[in-house]
Amino acid sequence: MGTVGILGGTGPAGRGVAVRLASAGYSVVLGSRDGDRAATVAAGIAPRGQGTVRGATNEEAANCDLVVVATPWDSAVATVSALRTQLAGKTVISMVNALAREGRELVPLYPPRGSMAAQIAFALPASTIVGAFHHLPAAQMEDLDSGLNADVVIFADDDAARESVAGIVNEMPGLRGVVAGSLSLAGAIEAFTAVCISINIRHKAHSYVKLAGLTH
Ligand SMILES: NC(=O)c1ccc[n+]([C@@H]2O[C@H](COP(=O)([O-])OP(=O)(O)OC[C@H]3O[C@@H](n4cnc5c(N)ncnc54)[C@H](OP(=O)(O)O)[C@@H]3O)[C@@H](O)[C@H]2O)c1
Repeated sequence: MGTVGILGGTGPAGRGVAVRLASAGYSVVLGSRDGDRAATVAAGIAPRGQGTVRGATNEEAANCDLVVVATPWDSAVATVSALRTQLAGKTVISMVNALAREGRELVPLYPPRGSMAAQIAFALPASTIVGAFHHLPAAQMEDLDSGLNADVVIFADDDAARESVAGIVNEMPGLRGVVAGSLSLAGAIEAFTAVCISINIRHKAHSYVKLAGLTH
């Protein structure tokens, strides 16, 4: 089992991914701008199984074998750019959505390169970028008893990297990895997350994506 670092891991999104990765046996490093804060947050996460979650700085998290970006969209590029050296040669998962709240809705923003995954890929030319976890509801992810049974749509230009991430997702309780295709799909998936969240706000629900008709 390798180590997984999460940049901005102290937020709801990072915590949700962390508890399910650790419950699959991974050693997770929750990264933060403040290592002490991350240690406090990590102490409150209770995975099941052999995995662990510890808090550290984003720099330490970036030294892990696999790294997830879980910061707000408007700080993602600056965060990864500062860690470009540590992230070189690694697979970096972006779960970042560029969204804005307008009344009762979340609406998608459109980054200049079409998606946050593409913005991150441009900032990290020596890393392999994979998109995943975009539309997962964080609270249900963090609660291992929530009954979550969700699909994770995965995309990347590198076939081996996206299959590898799908394998990891399939080990995480309550999740199925579904490889969709190349990084050019990122904008559509990031924007679709605005639809998912708006549905949940409007219907006061905790719905999630499960694709029908897939046989394998
Ligand atoms: N929430 C969800 O349900 C969900 C689901 C799927 C994907 N996502 C995506 O995952 C990302 C994180 O979502 P979230 O709800 O967890 O966000 P969040 O709580 O607003 O932020 C996550 C963490 O990012 C760090 N951070 C905040 N501002 C920063 C800055 N200016 N520079 C560097 N780091 C900063 C903070 O950690 P420290 O203060 O400890 O550094 C914070 O705890 C977003 O891009 C979101 O679109 C969210």
